[in-house]
Amino acid sequence: MDDRRTEQYWSRFPDTYDNNQQCVVGKELLDRITEELDGLPELGEVIELGCGTGRFTPMIAGKCENMFATDLSGSLLLAARKRLNDLPNVTVQKEDCMETSFPSEAFDTVFMANLIHVVDSPNGVLRESFRILRNGGAIIIVTFTGHGMKLWDKIKMGLRFLRAWGKPPRHTHSFSLEDLTSMMKEVGFGIKTSKLIGDRTKALYVIGSKD
Ligand SMILES: C[S@@+](CC[C@H](N)C(=O)[O-])C[C@H]1O[C@@H](n2cnc3c(N)ncnc32)[C@H](O)[C@@H]1O
Repeated sequence: MDDRRTEQYWSRFPDTYDNNQQCVVGKELLDRITEELDGLPELGEVIELGCGTGRFTPMIAGKCENMFATDLSGSLLLAARKRLNDLPNVTVQKEDCMETSFPSEAFDTVFMANLIHVVDSPNGVLRESFRILRNGGAIIIVTFTGHGMKLWDKIKMGLRFLRAWGKPPRHTHSFSLEDLTSMMKEVGFGIKTSKLIGDRTKALYVIGSKD
């Protein structure tokens, strides 16, 4: 229910989403995320949860056999379809990340960018990810955070956020690396990589495995 509200919140911006995101967090951080994703190995059968307009999807699509790019928002999925039209191995599909329509152990990799810090139940999305991953599969999480940022940079980012999106959605978390990795371990994931990336603005980059 609350995630419907989160989805409605982001759905307001299909045309301006990408620019707004860059204005708020800055190009430097988006480039750092791209750098990390570029370094990933082959990912097999992949699902992306909360793909939005599909900004990061092509980077993952180049490293996998087949990929479902999923989100709850109809308007953002339209933008994603336009962007991803030329990628034959990507299917864009409406799914709730808390309860997808896929059978258990369907994927080698679950990818999510900037989703877990905006959902009502971060545990819920981790549990669903665990369910749909095969044994030995990987979960790749990248998510913006205020942790590790200087106070003045946080204030400036907050102001840019207000200008771009208005009042933040009800459930916005600002996780530390420890917060996120502890939640992942509780659900059963082993942690393979965990880093705080970015200079003035920051993101958590964590890779876990279902062992
Ligand atoms: C901050 S945006 C991130 C979009 C994209 N991954 C990116 O980094 O540009 C959060 C996304 O999560 C989606 N979302 C929120 N709740 C969801 C849910 N329960 N199931 C699937 N997607 C959801 C929103 O519609 C939105 O596209």
